[in-house]
Amino acid sequence: MNHLIDAKDLSIQYVNSLISDAHKIIEDPTLYSKRCESKILASLFFEPSTRTRLSFESAMYGLGGSVIGFSSADSSSTTKGESLADTIRMVSAYADICVVRHPKEGAALLSSRYSGIPVINAGDGGHQHPTQTLTDLLTIYEVKKRLSNLTVGLCGDLKFGRTVHSLIETMSQYEGVSFVLVSPEELHLPNYLKTNMRRKNIHFTETSSLEDSIGNMDILYMTRVQRERFFNEADYVRLKDTYILDNQRLSLAKPDLAVLHPLPRVNEIAHEVDNDPRAVYFKQAEYGRYIRMALIMDLLKKAKEEA
Ligand code: CP
Repeated sequence: MNHLIDAKDLSIQYVNSLISDAHKIIEDPTLYSKRCESKILASLFFEPSTRTRLSFESAMYGLGGSVIGFSSADSSSTTKGESLADTIRMVSAYADICVVRHPKEGAALLSSRYSGIPVINAGDGGHQHPTQTLTDLLTIYEVKKRLSNLTVGLCGDLKFGRTVHSLIETMSQYEGVSFVLVSPEELHLPNYLKTNMRRKNIHFTETSSLEDSIGNMDILYMTRVQRERFFNEADYVRLKDTYILDNQRLSLAKPDLAVLHPLPRVNEIAHEVDNDPRAVYFKQAEYGRYIRMALIMDLLKKAKEEA
């Protein structure tokens, strides 16, 4: 069974094929309006979400399919003590494909081991968020017309920001990509990701200054400090406003910089930046629907072929 659990599942060939399909969907969504007729997507969100859940659900409806599921663990039998493994076994009997968001790292992988249907990781704790990466890559491709030879700045909570982890792992495969890691020391990228980059000879620098580094970037990927992953509220309060991108800081950047953010934002991008043509984060959220349509179609096709 094919699943999407980890950035390691996203080869260059696979990403390019999904981007190509998503691009065709953007050009004429009506052509795809019956592709998943009679198919059911289970949307299992054990942790809050706006974009990921709604874009998956909207994607499935856009393909002519149906959606079942829940938007919080509180409304599932998890509250009665049911294990994730048992939940997934049940869901395999009710749906054709499922999307799982969970606060625990590894929950999507565990789900895939007990599932009889394709599982898509919609975010597992501070670990990975591969469909956000697909969304990010489609956005970068639509804006820059390439995914290679780019200097990508990642700013904010690089420790707990799972979208950053998946994006680095996937973009590291592309020729000529280098990273500028902008964070306070407490929120540095985890060492295992830096070790992976060193092993693959990927060029990266670490800095705590956005002002000093923004001028070199082709992409700036801002992130929220992940309050829900902190053990200590005082640390969160101390670090939450370390970086705020405003028009003054943006004036130091290249004229063709693209500013991305997986959203939700809190304070890290001033609202005045929204009107700058370099701000593409709302378009990015919109692209999430199309790339998820492409992914659902692909995984259902593979499941059918396997059956
Ligand atoms: N980008 C993202 O994962 O947003 P949500 O938490 O709203 O799904």
